[in-house]
Parts: sequence; C-alpha cells; structure tokens
Amino acid sequence: MKRRKFVKLCASAVASVTASPELLARDNQQYHRYARVALVDPYSSEPVRASSLEVGETYLFHYPFVSTPCFLIDLGKPVTSRSNLETRDGDRYRWQGGAGSNYSVVAFSAICAHKLSHPAPSVSFINYQHGEVRFRNSFDEIEQRSGVIYCCSENSVYDPAHGGLVLGGPAPQPLAAIELEYDAEQDSFYATATIGGEMFARYFSHFHDRLVLQHARTDIDRALTDTTKLMRLSEYTNNQVGCQA
Ligand code: FES
Repeated sequence: MKRRKFVKLCASAVASVTASPELLARDNQQYHRYARVALVDPYSSEPVRASSLEVGETYLFHYPFVSTPCFLIDLGKPVTSRSNLETRDGDRYRWQGGAGSNYSVVAFSAICAHKLSHPAPSVSFINYQHGEVRFRNSFDEIEQRSGVIYCCSENSVYDPAHGGLVLGGPAPQPLAAIELEYDAEQDSFYATATIGGEMFARYFSHFHDRLVLQHARTDIDRALTDTTKLMRLSEYTNNQVGCQA
C-alpha cells in the first residue's frame, strides 16, 4: 500500500473513534466545501419548507455550480446510519445520512458516475424510482426493490439511502452526495458541500457547448453563492425516461 494512502486510511480510522458526526464529515478526504446556498422556491424566491416536500417526489436544484444538477428526495423514512463508501480511485469516505427533522431528506449530484447522463429540459434518463423496480444487481442477478436512483442510459442503479452506493450496472463509484444543512427554525435547507467523487470537470468538458446553449450563459462553471431554485424534476424536464430489467 502506498504510504500516502496508508496515512490517509490511518487518519480516517482515528477520526472514526474520536470525532463528532459533524467533524467526521469534514475529515473526509472526499469532502468538498462550497458556498452555503439556500434552496428556494423558483416563483417566490422564499426558502422551501421541508414540510412542503412530497415524500417520494424527485426535486431538482443546481449546485455547486450554475449548470450542475442535483436531486433532492424525501425518502419518507429516517436515514440515520452513516455509510462507508469508496470512489473509483479507491479513496474511502463516509456519508452522514439524511437531513431534516425526520432525517429523511437526501441530495445527490444527478450526474451519473458512468458516462455522465444527467437531467436536461428535453429529457432525463436518470430518475428516482420510489416504487418497486427490477434491475440487475452487481452479481448480475435480477433484483426488485423500491427507492432507487436508476440511470436508464446503461442501467446503473444507486441507493439513495446509502449515500448513492452502486447497486448494479457499470457505474464505477457512487453518486456524489450533497451535504444539506437543516435550519430547524425556518424548516428549510442549505446546500453546503459535496461528499464523494465529483464528476464536474469531465461534465463541463463533455457538455460545454450544449450547457452554454441550455443555460444561455458562457460561465457554466460559475459557483453559486446565495440561493438555488428547487423544483420538481417534472417541471424541469419534458421527458423522464423510466426502465427496468
Ligand atoms: S450514463 Fe448512467 S449508466 Fe451509463
């Protein structure tokens, strides 16, 4: 084992027994802090109330950049256990679980870790499936379960209750998670960081011209600073492609 990697693993092992959950997130090698950005209603620009979210609905917002889409989902059940995950390069990291008063709200980058499929106004091949669907798992067996993020491009399936863990298909690593900070007084959320393997550099490079047209701006990699609009995925895209094995 390379020395750098060994030191990294030792550091995370020490953190796991000494740090608070909040510090654990920050000790992650794969924790990338960005601006604290409020999730707001696209029409009123007021903070979206957590209590107004519909369980099982897929919501979309952009973070940490103006053109990088993310999913927000209220899974309808508390997700309190942390998940230990690994990037395609073998870097281990920890996901802290759900946010909100019921710890049931999760958010992930909506850029597939395989070939970067992502929601666009014309079509989305990657979607959250709250009901039961069939898919081929990592052992190439047919599995049926509810509550998965399914990319119909080449059938990568992710578990949003376990940090975006890959359940099946060719994706080489979990979806990058978005850290949500819950403001109990306002009953609202802020996006504050990403946790996991980011795909943003490749995304900007692959889709630059289309993103410039779609967002009607050349600075598609500009970081958000104050607010981001949260809307239903069905309001953002005309065509959500569903699939199953
Ligand atoms: S791009 Fe998502 S499975 Fe290939």
